[in-house]
Amino acid sequence: MVEIRNVHKSFKKGWYALKDVSLSIDKGDFLFVTGSTGSGKSTLIRLIYMDIFPDKGEVAVAGFLSSSIKKTEIPLLRRRIGIIFQDFKLLRDKTIYENVAFALEVTGSSGRKMKEKAMKALAVVGLSHKRNDFPYQISGGEQQKTAIARALVREPFILLADEPTGNIDPEGSMEIIKILQDINTSGTAVLMATHDVYLAKKMGGKIINLSEGQIVED
Ligand SMILES: Nc1ncnc2c1ncn2[C@@H]1O[C@H](COP(=O)(O)OP(=O)(O)OP(=O)(O)O)[C@@H](O)[C@H]1O
Ligand SMILES: [Mg+2]
Repeated sequence: MVEIRNVHKSFKKGWYALKDVSLSIDKGDFLFVTGSTGSGKSTLIRLIYMDIFPDKGEVAVAGFLSSSIKKTEIPLLRRRIGIIFQDFKLLRDKTIYENVAFALEVTGSSGRKMKEKAMKALAVVGLSHKRNDFPYQISGGEQQKTAIARALVREPFILLADEPTGNIDPEGSMEIIKILQDINTSGTAVLMATHDVYLAKKMGGKIINLSEGQIVED
């Protein structure tokens, strides 16, 4: 589903943020990407949703190739990928329910089916009861759960999570990871970047450790 082959990515001449990185993610995988700040975790995630492109090597995601994807195809690829960030990126003037439903609206969805899907995604993250609250009325952990529901509602084949627990206390972080594991168990691949090696090891699953843009442990 995701194949990264001998990828090099440079932002500055003569200096690589990622060096010769290869990995594959298959259906049902739960993969942690660990590494200290600046090691290349976010760069790797951005390559997968084709926000940036490799200088050498190839990224293949759901049949799209980094070397040949057209600009007009990128939104189609993104619809099939769920992405969550450290800072949630919720719409402040929309309720929790509206934030989730909006992800479907922008793809042309509406009506009863849309409502059902949005309510189902909120139930998966345990936030049905907060659906009419606004983001400022709920905790950081709940905001991240909303972001997960928003990503989930389009039924992505993979969920990319870049430091999703970075702004959440340890207890809330465990809840977030448990939700990601449940989502993974029901068939969605999950890639989670974290600087917290201890947390990744505790959770089990596959770990790829980056250091200065290279995989040092797999
Ligand atoms: N747009 C950019 N322009 C220049 N340099 C960049 C850019 N994006 C990333 N870099 C550099 O590439 C390296 C890898 O960055 P990246 O954001 O992937 O690290 P990270 O592992 O996600 O770090 P963090 O844990 O702090 O989020 C860093 O040295 C960073 O400064
Ligand atoms: Mg990062």
